[in-house]
Amino acid sequence: MTLEDQLNQTFLSLYQRSADKIYQAPGRVNIIGEHTDYNDGFVLPAAIDYCNMIAASARDDRVIELTAVNMGLSTSRFHLDEEITADPDASWSNYIRGVVIELKQRGYQLCGANLVITGNVPTGAGLSSSAALEMVTVSCLCDLSGETIDGVQAALVGQAAENNFVGTQCGIMDQLISALGVSERALLIDCRSLETKTYKLPENTSLVIINSAVKRGLVDSEYNVRRQQCEQVARQLNVKALRDVSLTQLESHKDQIDPVAYKRALHVVTENDRTVQAAQAMEAGDMKLLSTLMAQSHISMRDDFEITVPAIDTLVDIIAEVVGQNGGVRMTGGGFGGCVIALVPEALQQQVIEAVTEQYPAKTGLTPEIFICKASQGAFANQA
Ligand code: GLA
Repeated sequence: MTLEDQLNQTFLSLYQRSADKIYQAPGRVNIIGEHTDYNDGFVLPAAIDYCNMIAASARDDRVIELTAVNMGLSTSRFHLDEEITADPDASWSNYIRGVVIELKQRGYQLCGANLVITGNVPTGAGLSSSAALEMVTVSCLCDLSGETIDGVQAALVGQAAENNFVGTQCGIMDQLISALGVSERALLIDCRSLETKTYKLPENTSLVIINSAVKRGLVDSEYNVRRQQCEQVARQLNVKALRDVSLTQLESHKDQIDPVAYKRALHVVTENDRTVQAAQAMEAGDMKLLSTLMAQSHISMRDDFEITVPAIDTLVDIIAEVVGQNGGVRMTGGGFGGCVIALVPEALQQQVIEAVTEQYPAKTGLTPEIFICKASQGAFANQA
């Protein structure tokens, strides 16, 4: 059964009528540019063909009623004109609650709605299932209420919902790519100006995502610590964000910076350069350079930003051994587990799958999950 069929069936059995419309927003994978977004830097992600979906119809009263198909039909409801608080029995609904609060604060006039939600973005894998949920919610509620919003504003609403209500200090990358992704393309996002430019992904190359199955344990606390360390160095160097620091500048202040914070900043400053170069390498069809940049990015995350884990390093090594410089591989996302992204020439795809399924469990005791993805349209991309 497709996700749409599942939604239609559930909607019909809950409300004895069909939904007015179905909305969707994709998850994402970041090709390069990790932990650069909240430093006002550059990222190069793509939206993937795994998404979260909502079947919706408007209601005459001011109530929003939510049902999550994937959570055993867990339900949650709130009134638009009363204070919206977290639902401890349905924490998944907090993303939607947070989005509604932010939309209301910005003056969007929302109507009541019945929303039935499902999706196939793996959760807890670092593929931005929560950003997909936020973006599909913005798209759905604005459309049902006759409000218009563009992709950048939608992304800012989603990020604010996470920062202010859910309590995650994330940057803008996940929401922006879920909103504005373009099929077959990666998006170079300037996280300061929020300008985007699309780059065609390499020809005859698959986007292979492998979930390491490492539980992303410390991710929130470690994420916030990294963010503080970066901000500390920016303050010390008297700039708004690490985006404004060159490698030479950073190196010349090395003695004055705490050694750990220095390593964090070194990752961000070099990663920013790598990300811009990677976009140019894509444009020039230079897979060798792209491959080198992805490898350097992984090493920098491993040794300087210290956000990889041994199982992920092993997974990257297994894939790098097969693809060499004909493809690229690195950990993707916030870190401490989650997924690896590999750009794999179609001719080597089978070999990569075999190497991962044979060697990874033997070396780590973990069972990987492999997703062959296509870069896809974001929830607001068709407006552009
Ligand atoms: C998470 C955050 C993003 C970004 C990445 C790291 O996915 O939500 O904003 O900071 O980590 O690149």
